[in-house]
Amino acid sequence: MGFFVLQFLCMKNSQKFVIGNWKMKITSLAQAKKLFTDTKKEAGKHRGVQTIVCPPAFYLEPLSKMVTGHRCVLGAQNIFHEEVGAFTGELSPLMLADRKIGYSIIGHSERRAMGETSEDVSKKIRMCIKNGIIPIVCVGETERKDDNSHYKVIKKQIKESFAGIPYEALGSILLAYEPVWALSSTKDRHDATPQDAEEMKLFVQKVFADMYGVKKIENLTFLYGGSVDADNVADFMKEKSVDGVLVGSASVDSKEFAQMLKVASSL
Ligand code: PGA
Repeated sequence: MGFFVLQFLCMKNSQKFVIGNWKMKITSLAQAKKLFTDTKKEAGKHRGVQTIVCPPAFYLEPLSKMVTGHRCVLGAQNIFHEEVGAFTGELSPLMLADRKIGYSIIGHSERRAMGETSEDVSKKIRMCIKNGIIPIVCVGETERKDDNSHYKVIKKQIKESFAGIPYEALGSILLAYEPVWALSSTKDRHDATPQDAEEMKLFVQKVFADMYGVKKIENLTFLYGGSVDADNVADFMKEKSVDGVLVGSASVDSKEFAQMLKVASSL
C-alpha cells in the first residue's frame, strides 16, 4: 500500500486528533527523546485518538527511528514550498517523505507573523499533497472586535491559502482554527470558548462550500487550538464539536499531555 494511501486511511479511521506542537521549547535531544517516549507510551493506550507530535525539525530524524505503529506519529512544524535547490535553512517535503513523516503544520500564526503569506501557505499545501504529507493548515485572526470582522479575516485566509487546491484534497487536510488572541503565548490573551470554535467551524464549512460550489462540506477535519490543556480539552472536544485539538504549551508537559489524551479518548 502506498504511503499516501496508508496515511489517508489512518486519518479516515481515526476519530479524534490530538496534536502537540512543541514549537522551539525543547532544546536537547535527551529531553526530546524522553518526552516522545512518554507521549508515545500514553498514546499507545488510546485506540480512538490519533496523536501527532510536531517537534523542532532538528529532532525529526532521531525521533522517526522511535516511531512504532500508527497511534503516535510525527509531524513537522513547517516545510518549504520547493523540493530541492539553493534554499538555505529550509526543510524539504522530500526529507519528510523519505523518513515517512506524514504530517506538517502549515501557516502557523507564529510563521505568518514572521512574514509567511497565504500564497506561501497555498504553495506549501500543494507540496504536501504532492508528497503524501497531510497538512495541518492553521488559520486565525489576531484580534476580535465587536464588528464580526474576524469572519472576513478567516474567509480571506482560507480563500487565499486554498487557491488552486482541488476539492478532493480537502478530505486529507486538517484545518486548525487558532485565534491568536487565545494562544497561551499571547500577551493579554483571553479565553476562546467552545462556542467560538463551533461557530467558526460552521462558518469555515460555509466558506469552503461556497468556494467549491457544493451544498455542504462533509469531509473537512476541523481542529481548535489556543491554550488547550487538560482542564478544558473536554469542553472543546465533547460531542465531537471539533474533531481534535492543536496543543502548544501543554504538549511539552508529558503528564498534562497524557491527561489530555486520556480525556480525549474517553469522549
Ligand atoms: P498554545 O499554542 O496551546 O500554547 O496556546 C497552540 C499553538 O500555537 O499551536
